[in-house]
Formats: sequence, C-alpha cells, structure tokens
Amino acid sequence: MAESNEPIAQIFPQPTWLMDADYNVIDRNAQAEKFEKNYVISMEYAVEVAKGTCCAFHTDKRACKNCPLENKWAASEGFPITFMGRDGISYEFFGKLLKNEQNWMLEISYIDKPLESVGKSMLTYLNEARESEQKRIARELHDGIAQSIYSLMLETRGLKWTPVEDHQQKLQAIDRHFADVLLEIKSLATELRPSILDDVGLIPAINQFVEQTMEMTGFIIHVIVEGERNALSSRGNVVIYRSIQEAISNALKYSGENEASITVDFGQKELRVTIADEGKGFIYDPYHLGFGLLNLRERAHSVGGKMEVDTGIKKGTRITMIVPYKEGSA
Ligand SMILES: Nc1ncnc2c1ncn2[C@@H]1O[C@H](COP(=O)(O)OP(=O)(O)OP(=O)(O)O)[C@@H](O)[C@H]1O
Ligand SMILES: [Mg+2]
Repeated sequence: MAESNEPIAQIFPQPTWLMDADYNVIDRNAQAEKFEKNYVISMEYAVEVAKGTCCAFHTDKRACKNCPLENKWAASEGFPITFMGRDGISYEFFGKLLKNEQNWMLEISYIDKPLESVGKSMLTYLNEARESEQKRIARELHDGIAQSIYSLMLETRGLKWTPVEDHQQKLQAIDRHFADVLLEIKSLATELRPSILDDVGLIPAINQFVEQTMEMTGFIIHVIVEGERNALSSRGNVVIYRSIQEAISNALKYSGENEASITVDFGQKELRVTIADEGKGFIYDPYHLGFGLLNLRERAHSVGGKMEVDTGIKKGTRITMIVPYKEGSA
C-alpha cells in the first residue's frame, strides 16, 4: 500500500485519490488517508460536485433540490466543496478532478491557502448563487406570472367579440383566472420570504405562528423571550422563523407529547433559539439527517451560524439555532 501511494504522494502534496473510469477509488496518498480520519468524505458526492451535478453548499443531494446552485457548477480550475468534520461541523475546501489517462484523480486543497491559487472563493461563489437565484425569480415572474396576465388580457379583450348573453359565464372564468394568478404570486412570495416578518418583526411573527398552530392543532407551545433584544439580519430572521416552523412541526409529528417550548435568547453577539419537547427523542446522527434537519443546518450555515441537537431515546428533543447578529461573526 505504502509503495503504491508513492507516485500520487510525490506529485500531489494535497490529499489525493486515484479513481478508475467509473470513479471507484483504487488508490489514495497518505494525506488522503489522514483526511479521511478527520472528515467524512463521500466520493460520490465529491464527484457529483466536481461534475456540476450536485451543489457545493449541500452535503446531500436532496437538500440541493431547487437550490440555485443545482447543476450550476462545473469548472476546470476547481470547485468549492464542503465536507463534514468528525466534530460535526462543515468545513470548506477546494477540489480538482483531473483526468489521468483512463483514471480520475481527485485532489482536495485546504481553504486556508491563498484564494488566488485555488480559484474562486466561496464568497464569490455565494454571490453568484444569489445572482442566479434572482435570475430564477425573474424567470418565474416572466414565464409564469407575466404569461398568465397576458392570457388574462387577451381573455378580457375577447369579451368585445363575445355575444352579450355569454358575458356572465366569461366573466366568471376571468374571475377564476385572476384568483389563480393571485395564488401564483402569493406562492412565489412566500417561497421567497414569509411576509409576516416584514410586516410585524421576528418576535410578533413567532407569536402569531404559535397562536395559529395552537388554534389549528391543539398543541401547546410556550414562548420564552430572554435577554436584551437585538436585530438579526433580514436573512437571519428568515432562518430563525423557518427553523421554528420545522422544529415545531417535528415536535408535533414525532414527540408523542402535546407540548413544546420555544426559547428565544438574545445574547451579546448572537441569537439562540431553542425548540424543545420532553417527548420520545431519537438517535441523532449528524451524517444521516432527514431533509428537515439537514435544511435547518444548511440554513444556519448560510448566515454564519450553527445548529445544535440534543436528544436521545426518551430524552426529549432540543434543537438550538445559533445565528450571529452580524453575518459571519460567530
Ligand atoms: N421532536 C422530535 N421528537 C422525536 N423524533 C424526532 C423529532 N424531530 C425529529 N425527529 C426524528 O428525526 C427524523 C428526521 O427529522 P427531519 O425533520 O429531518 O425529517 P422528517 O420530519 O422525517 O421529514 P421532513 O422534515 O422532510 O418532513 C424524524 O423522522 C424523526 O424520526
Ligand atoms: Mg421534519
């Protein structure tokens, strides 16, 4: 093994894996062996990211669904990629996938190298992602809503040529179509951002969500707000609000109890929100998360924060979202 590692190790000082034409690992250098001890590395994921079929920010393909980076990345100079450390935290790296005769070579560089030498920084990448998200919205507005309004315009103009006795029926159809467009606009808007956050602010929005949920389900939710209030970024607010929705829905579905609590703790530099229940709990495995929890973790990371999970069989569940007031200062 040591002997066969020699050639790769000599040429590539970085962790490097040699793969056959079907991307099966056939060799790795000593740095790669060390890397595998410190990080959870899935070759399938690395190759997907390298080929641009999976996203650099998501460690799971399912979380990548509808993400602005889905299918967007494939560059010869390298690609940003995240791997989960054995400590449960995601770390950023740069990867390169090189063709070597019949084989493939995957090289991973540590991000603390000068960024120029490893290609684009994650920040540039993130900005590109936002831009591509804006393009998606523009597309949605153009292809979906603008088209529907155009059809409605034609439908209304057509009234001129319609016999008067048919007007009533036509107007009913137009009314129905207007309602559809309205729905379309609303669904696009909620997908982007819960409007209630802009209307009333984070804490009132949480209280309103809690009241509605209790009314609709009979579930009891206590809200505790501690510390001196401070404002999160607008994206931070969305992260917290969506996380509360998901964690409460999990408590409702799985805890087996009819009660949960939301503690909002305004700290010095960060907001900590814990959603807790005293129910069944579960075995938490950070490497195999459900879509909901995976999303929560990715959301926290997207604003420079983190998610903590404290649970166990019959031990209840506490999900804590930690979000810095200033993005990236945690
Ligand atoms: N409060 C809880 N009490 C008990 N088990 C939980 C709780 N929250 C999560 N779990 C367990 O963790 C699993 C993963 O949760 P997660 O939210 O990631 O996925 P999900 O709720 O099953 O699916 P989705 O969120 O996509 O609808 C759940 O299926 C459940 O077994
Ligand atoms: Mg869930």
